[in-house]
Amino acid sequence: MRILYAASEAVPFAKTGGLADVIGALPKYIHQLGHRCVVLLPRYRGIRSRRVVLPSLTIPMGDSLGFCSIHEAESDSGVRVFLVDQPGYYDRDSLYRHDNVDYADNAERFAFFSLAAVEFAKRAPHAPDVLHCHDWQTALVPVYLKTLYRDDPFFQRTRTLLTIHNLAYQGVFPRTMMRRAALPDSLFDPERLEFYGNVNFLKGGLLFADRLSTVSHRYSQEIRTPEFGCGLEGVLLKRAHDLTGILNGVDYSAWDPSKDPWLAERYASDNLEGKKACKLDLMAEFEIESDPDRPLIGIISRLTDQKGFDLLLEVGEIILQDGVSMVILGTGDEKYSRFFLELQRKYPKFMGVKIAYDEALAHKIEAGSDMFLMPSRFEPCGLNQIYSLKYGTVPIVRGTGGLDDTITDYQALSGNGFKFSHYTSSELLRTVRRALEVYRNPERWQALIRRAMEMDFSWQRSARRYHELYESLILNV
Ligand code: ADP
Ligand code: GLC
Repeated sequence: MRILYAASEAVPFAKTGGLADVIGALPKYIHQLGHRCVVLLPRYRGIRSRRVVLPSLTIPMGDSLGFCSIHEAESDSGVRVFLVDQPGYYDRDSLYRHDNVDYADNAERFAFFSLAAVEFAKRAPHAPDVLHCHDWQTALVPVYLKTLYRDDPFFQRTRTLLTIHNLAYQGVFPRTMMRRAALPDSLFDPERLEFYGNVNFLKGGLLFADRLSTVSHRYSQEIRTPEFGCGLEGVLLKRAHDLTGILNGVDYSAWDPSKDPWLAERYASDNLEGKKACKLDLMAEFEIESDPDRPLIGIISRLTDQKGFDLLLEVGEIILQDGVSMVILGTGDEKYSRFFLELQRKYPKFMGVKIAYDEALAHKIEAGSDMFLMPSRFEPCGLNQIYSLKYGTVPIVRGTGGLDDTITDYQALSGNGFKFSHYTSSELLRTVRRALEVYRNPERWQALIRRAMEMDFSWQRSARRYHELYESLILNV
């Protein structure tokens, strides 16, 4: 099979969140199953080009023509990675926004990228069997294939899969963007791309893609309800038969404490000495009190409402007063960074805060913390809780989406973390206290850590499920 992945981020090239981890890993594992995988990304600032493969590609942007070139990036994984080079759109200091405000031309930037994906595919000797799109940024690919390119014989056998990584981001723009995005006016209809008077890119993808998936089973159920559907639950219910949940995997070549180059000391489940060294190193890095016995909670996150931080606004201080230290690495909403920085000012010995994006520090937090907190309001999959398991850092989570699918609540002889279900600060606090009780019993805590570390969430299993999905898609071609 030939699979073309069109996505707006992928490690090691560009990352704002878990989507990048997925696109950096999934194609590698599908490639290992014997398929031809190609990844297409925008060429953001700083991504190095190995060579130019197409010096000029014409993009039909409705009334006008756009141009870009296609470069190939360095890649040693067996998967070829190509880049859409259009400096006017992508050579900027970040991917989607500046100073917490979205770029005003995001509709145009990603409509252009989606059209470039189709035009790029057309330049290959063979059409892809599956064009696998991700989130709103590439959700227009299936729309274009079923409208502008409907009669193009080249794509007769190509099928599309759209994976939803986060339904909360839909790409909603004023109607005037329809023309800029080369979308025929006839698509501005509530049964198609219209959404309360605006145009909704994700809605288009959900209606036009041949198949839909999301990144956990639980989230695939949740998004059919008004509570999690973000206004698209009706569309998702309509397409329920074509919607599957496939849990993300972990790329253990990047996230494994026995091989991790960022750590002060490496360790594995049969020798946890190194984890203590990592804890001291982390405490020193955040300049908090170096007490190896004081429980340490880590957080690495986008600081947004999704991640449940409003609960911490209510009980964060009580948790510190309970005898816990906390370290937080994140960027995002100012209301949360201000709150955490204020806590740090008040409790400098126990609270460490870095408002930054820092890959190395993320690894150090995974290794050096005793517990990892993710009290999300909703969570399509969530990766850090699964990374935490491998690092013997016990997750404390709210049971929603992928958090619910991956974490089972602690019992004396079972469970891999601590989980609460109602989204309230009192449940969060009670759950942290339950974790602390077990922490104070070293024998039980060690047994829990070992159980967590021995769990396997490798990509192989998830890749096999995607593989089956691709096969079923092209079965009746
Ligand atoms: P989401 O994609 O919703 O942000 P995930 O848990 O799926 O959540 O993935 C988040 C990814 O981004 C993880 O790999 C995490 O380590 C990384 N990450 C998030 N914030 C930061 C940060 N400030 N510095 C470094 N890595 C971060
Ligand atoms: C999104 C979700 C996160 C998921 C990631 C990768 O950013 O918020 O839960 O793990 O995509 O699929």
